[in-house]
Amino acid sequence: MLEDKRILLIISGGIAAYKSLELIRQLRKRGAWVTPVLTKSAKEFVTPLSVSALAEEKAYQDLFDLTDEAEMGHIQLSRSADLVVVAPCTANLMAKMANGLADDLASTLLLATDTQVLVAPAMNVRMWDHPSTQRNLKTLKNDGVAFVGPNEGDMACGEYGPGRLAEPAEIVAAVESQLAEGPLTGRRILVTSGPTHEPIDPVRYIANRSSGAQGTAIARALVLLGADVIFVTGPADEPRPEGAHIVEVETAKDMMEAVNKVLPVDAAVFAAAVADWNVVGASDQKIKKQAGKIPSLNFSENPDILATISQLEKDRPQLVVGFAAETNDVVENATKKRLRKACDWIVANDVSPETGIMGGRENAVILISDEGAEHWPRMGKDLVARQLAERIAQALG
Ligand code: CTP
Repeated sequence: MLEDKRILLIISGGIAAYKSLELIRQLRKRGAWVTPVLTKSAKEFVTPLSVSALAEEKAYQDLFDLTDEAEMGHIQLSRSADLVVVAPCTANLMAKMANGLADDLASTLLLATDTQVLVAPAMNVRMWDHPSTQRNLKTLKNDGVAFVGPNEGDMACGEYGPGRLAEPAEIVAAVESQLAEGPLTGRRILVTSGPTHEPIDPVRYIANRSSGAQGTAIARALVLLGADVIFVTGPADEPRPEGAHIVEVETAKDMMEAVNKVLPVDAAVFAAAVADWNVVGASDQKIKKQAGKIPSLNFSENPDILATISQLEKDRPQLVVGFAAETNDVVENATKKRLRKACDWIVANDVSPETGIMGGRENAVILISDEGAEHWPRMGKDLVARQLAERIAQALG
């Protein structure tokens, strides 16, 4: 799958840098060409010689090395790759990337590149959890940088928690999904997913039981068919789909805003369980309990994202797919919903508690289009996603 793909691999300094040797080996085994770049501190952990021997290519190290500039300028070096991978990426390099600093070869390449960047962070758990690293993570995700890991586990520094470099096999899988080619290559597809949270006050909110599993599976399946997927998700525990551009939101209004920003797209799949209402005048301080007094909440209606996008005159996606979560008269309700919201397809499902679908791993869907209702057998959400992605590919032609 990676035959003749060109990967620019930036290795920054950290004990996990030793895993980059295995990563290079696995990438080469799959037919990829790896151009390694080491930061100054990476050389304290792995030698340019071992990196270059495994990559069978020169290991670049210094911005001001004139021979390198003569061989290949940094602009060309950064752009000749199909994918830029930073593994391991230290907290320091993440901070430089988030702020556009370019004070060595690695950070200059990252600033100069117009190629997709995949980052595999590795650092001490406290450094990962630090607000500045989390802020940088958010900035980089918003800039379209993709992430794999970090994983949770025992760390070389003796602590436990998130911060471990993803395993080489996981990084290879993320590289494969970034470079996936298929019937949806060149297509931009939006997927909304997860619940939304509507705050009551800073500590309380209204939500629903959506796990985000189906939306995530759809995003993954679309990535594997080569689509450029923008995944707009409410707060959900489900691990984010590798290879998709992730946009995290909290409320329905945030989701509406995020969706408007990513248009135009070729297709849009609205799998999110968006809250229908928000709390009017949500308090910015915690509402205190007062003896004998029960607070009352007033609601106002949230924007209907699916209906808004389906009814756009300009920038309406070629294909708009909605979901219908019903507990009774599924086909009838979902058919009406398709017409009311003006989307092309509705993926309807029965979310009555006894079906175990909401929050579960399986789904039994009915695909409703202008050709009628098509009942799919109950199957894993991954399989539903794959079939739906294939249908989307057929529809987009
Ligand atoms: N949806 C949306 N924005 C909303 C509400 C729903 O985009 N504010 C989308 C969902 O992502 C889904 C579809 O609309 O694709 C249907 O969601 P569902 O909850 O089944 O329908 P509702 O519009 O909430 O209607 P009802 O509660 O009456 O069933």
